[in-house]
Amino acid sequence: MSFRLQPAPVARPNRCQLFGPGSNVKLFEKMAASAADVINLDLEDSVAPSDKDIARANVINAIADVDWGTKTLAVRINGLDTPYWYRDVVDLLEQADDRLDQIMIPKVGCAADIYAVDALVTAIETAKGRSKKIAFEVIIESAAGIAHVEEIAASSPRLQAMSLGAADFAASMGMQTTGIGGTQENYYMLHGETRHYSDPWHWAQTAIVAACRTHGVLPVDGPFGDFSDDEGYRAQARRSATLGMVGKWAIHPKQIALANEVFTPSDEAVAEAREILAAMEEAKAKGEGATVYKGRLVDIASIKQAEVIVRQSEMIAG
Ligand code: COA
Ligand code: MG
Repeated sequence: MSFRLQPAPVARPNRCQLFGPGSNVKLFEKMAASAADVINLDLEDSVAPSDKDIARANVINAIADVDWGTKTLAVRINGLDTPYWYRDVVDLLEQADDRLDQIMIPKVGCAADIYAVDALVTAIETAKGRSKKIAFEVIIESAAGIAHVEEIAASSPRLQAMSLGAADFAASMGMQTTGIGGTQENYYMLHGETRHYSDPWHWAQTAIVAACRTHGVLPVDGPFGDFSDDEGYRAQARRSATLGMVGKWAIHPKQIALANEVFTPSDEAVAEAREILAAMEEAKAKGEGATVYKGRLVDIASIKQAEVIVRQSEMIAG
């Protein structure tokens, strides 16, 4: 480890973030009753421009009126390139019940974007005497966002989570696809006649994970658009979990159980991690830094790997 220790992110489950348009009030109770860890009431791209004001009012009412249980409750505001975002922040901070946990800022391109929102939020919190500090989460979904991902991850102590937004990201990058996440038809290598499909989102995900882990922010995988493709969702989520992401969005209730399944360490994985820890305890007692577990090397680094899985499982279990 560097002399500068890696900060731990906030210890809360973030396996699934369920989205719903702020204009669709009949979804709110269903969202609250779901098994998602995080709720994202949307004011941005799932709300038509003509519905922005009514959606904002709906969301403010629902924050107080709906029983959100122990979920992390977030609202996605409009982007800083729109005429809506300041009113989103002002009305939410002036009017929303203290139950609101987090604001999601979309299409972030540089640390100054967060600075601007932070300045406004801080002023209103102080003016209104709000005792609970609102947390931030951001979406990396543009070329600028990924180019400046590290300064964004370091931008504010309010920042708790960062998601990859595949659709806007693809558009901003000029990617030739209309798919939202997952395998892309033309992204393959040829070995003889056989096509091997690779993952076009991989590098952006790893850049996000590295920036997040450096600065104590939760890295999250964003939407998977084809909600009739369970196996495609699972495969994408498993890759994200393997890379260090802690959860994934659901844009339809079908996807919640899939995310919870993938991002909850399995009983087998936890049992194996505990066995590795026990094997290393035994080795340490004998004055050894490395030993053999099921025919493979485990050493002091394996303790840290195993602890990631055990800690995640204990945190989710509460
Ligand atoms: N949260 C909670 N419940 C939802 C839901 C959501 N996001 N989306 C749909 N449901 C409910 C429906 O109300 C329906 O309930 P019912 O069985 O009681 O009637 C059930 O789940 C099945 O819904 P279905 O008919 O398959 O979907 P739909 O055609 O009503 O809606 C979408 C499909 C994609 C429009 C809708 O899921 C949606 O709005 N998703 C969120 C979009 C969003 O927020 N995007 C921004 C982030 S990318
Ligand atoms: Mg987007």
